[in-house]
Amino acid sequence: MQSLLRLLQDGQFHSGEELGAAVGVSRAAIWKRLQALEAELDLQIHKVRGRGYRLEKPLSLLAIDALTASSSVPVTLIQQVDSTNAEALRRLASGAIPPYLVIAEQQTAGRGRRGRSWASPFGENLYYSLVLRITGGMRQLEGLSLVVGLALLEALRGAGITEGGLKWPNDLLIDGRKIAGILLELAGDPADVCHVVIGIGVNINMRMAPASQVIDQPWTSLRQVLGEQVDRNQFVAGLNRQLEHYLQLHQQHGFASLRAQWEASHLWQGRMVTLATGAQATRGRVLGVDDAGALRLDVAGQERLFSGGELSLRLHDDS
Ligand code: BTN
Repeated sequence: MQSLLRLLQDGQFHSGEELGAAVGVSRAAIWKRLQALEAELDLQIHKVRGRGYRLEKPLSLLAIDALTASSSVPVTLIQQVDSTNAEALRRLASGAIPPYLVIAEQQTAGRGRRGRSWASPFGENLYYSLVLRITGGMRQLEGLSLVVGLALLEALRGAGITEGGLKWPNDLLIDGRKIAGILLELAGDPADVCHVVIGIGVNINMRMAPASQVIDQPWTSLRQVLGEQVDRNQFVAGLNRQLEHYLQLHQQHGFASLRAQWEASHLWQGRMVTLATGAQATRGRVLGVDDAGALRLDVAGQERLFSGGELSLRLHDDS
């Protein structure tokens, strides 16, 4: 199946003979295989008499050789999985030794923050989970998700994005639209042996929300912003490089050393916001973040600190 898709990924016509010869089946069997691909991966394949078959939208497929070459940790590439974070945690539970990276072409139950789902169509975006062992206790976790946001922002810039920035704690927005998200999940006891799964989702070549999924917030993709298809293997290489750099800085010097850089990329610095904390809402002006990555808000003249992954920040209309 994969070799067929690889041939078709350019979006050009390929004859039944060519495809049949490449995968070693008869011309007649090819159409059956392509129909199975369409159904399984939610793809559109056009069949035109005399010309052959072509994908409605070209794809930039991930290639394990390229992914492995750009990573300093072992990589597993899965075609379809419920969630790369869930898979990374399962591997941990069955004895896999971090660091390692799990990447998928499609997620059927991609997880977002605060119980949301994450749209994960086949072959278009990036679903990336890096598992690390935490040896320095809670300190090593402080500000970690914000640092991952910085690395991801740099990777987006390396791919040609010039606008946009971060929204506390770790959303990446362009023109108010989400282009990427980060979900950290912990396994074990932070006071003892503990592992973190750094889950990263980046909208790379997505042009439309998948038919089967409603995306309940404004979104964009690298393709939409840049106006052209992006090579996903190259994007992963840039992301690997940036993560390695920023995670090393964070491990050696803590979040304090990256705090000013983070604030400089914070889109809502100085703005009036409403912070939803469970049933309560707190209104205040964003002062920045502290050395542990907690949000500093000026609430009626008093500085207050907020931390935790379950908080949601909204811009206030009059800011
Ligand atoms: C968010 O809500 O902003 C976080 C989205 C995180 C999505 C990524 S995709 C790879 C990894 N696997 C998941 O199931 N979720 C994360």
